[in-house]
Amino acid sequence: MKAFGPTVFYCPGFFIRAATALYEARGAAALRHRVFVEEQQIFKDHDRDAIDAVATTLVALSTYAHEADEVVGTVRIHEAEPGLWWGSRLAVDQEFRAVGRLGRQLIRLAVSTAKGRGCDRFFAHVQRQNVPLFAKLGWSIEDEVVVHGVPHALMRADLTCYEPVADPQVGWLSLASQGRPAIRSRSRQACEGVPALLAPSWPQWSVSA
Ligand SMILES: CC(C)(COP(=O)(O)OP(=O)(O)OC[C@H]1O[C@@H](n2cnc3c(N)ncnc32)[C@H](O)[C@@H]1OP(=O)(O)O)[C@@H](O)C(=O)NCCC(=O)NCCS
Repeated sequence: MKAFGPTVFYCPGFFIRAATALYEARGAAALRHRVFVEEQQIFKDHDRDAIDAVATTLVALSTYAHEADEVVGTVRIHEAEPGLWWGSRLAVDQEFRAVGRLGRQLIRLAVSTAKGRGCDRFFAHVQRQNVPLFAKLGWSIEDEVVVHGVPHALMRADLTCYEPVADPQVGWLSLASQGRPAIRSRSRQACEGVPALLAPSWPQWSVSA
C-alpha cells in the first residue's frame, strides 16, 4: 500500500486533442506565455503572431476525477499553402515534462491531424536541444536556421510514420505510465473520494505515440 501526502495529486491521465473550448484556448495561450516569454525569454511581451489567426491549437489536458482539468501541453499547426503544413509553439508545462510523453503525443497529433487534412509536407523549426526528440519520431534535419535569435533546425516529418486523424477534437486519452512517477503536479487536494485514480497499478491501455 502506498501512502500519499494530503496535498499531492497524482494525475492519472491526459486528454490529447484539438482545443475547442474557450478555457482550452486560453490555457494554451497562458502556457505559451509561461514557456516562450517567461521561461525561455524568446519573446519580450507576448508570443502571439499572425499564424494564430489561422492555426489549429492542439492541447494536452491533465485530468481530475476523470474530467479534463488544466492545459499542460500545447502545439499549433497551420497550412501555409495547399499540402504544406507547419507545426510551431510546442510547449509542455515544466511540471509535466518527461513524465507523460506529452511532447511526443502532441507531435503525433499535430502531424496526424495535418495528414487527415491533406498534408503532403510537414515542417517545424526545432530548437537544437529538441532535435533528438523529433529525430526519434521520424523527423529529419533539412537545414540549420536562426529563428527569433535562437538556433533552430528546420526539420521535416516522415509522413509514413503517422496515421491520419480525421477528428482531432476527439483525440485520445493517455493514461500515466506504470513504473514511472505518474506525475508531479501542482499542490492540490488529493482525490480521496476516487481512490482508483490514485492506484499506481491502474491497467495499462494508454495510447503510445
Ligand atoms: C520539448 C518539450 C515539448 C518536450 O515535452 P515532454 O513532454 O517533456 O517530451 P516527452 O516526455 O514526450 O519526451 C519524449 C522523449 O524524448 C525525450 N526528450 C524530451 N525532450 C528532450 C530533449 N530536449 N532532448 C532529448 N530528449 C528529449 C524524453 O526523455 C522522452 O524520451 P523517452 O521516450 O525515451 O522516454 C518540453 O521539454 C518543452 O516544453 N520544452 C520547452 C519549450 C520547447 O523547447 N519547445 C519546443 C520548441 S522546438
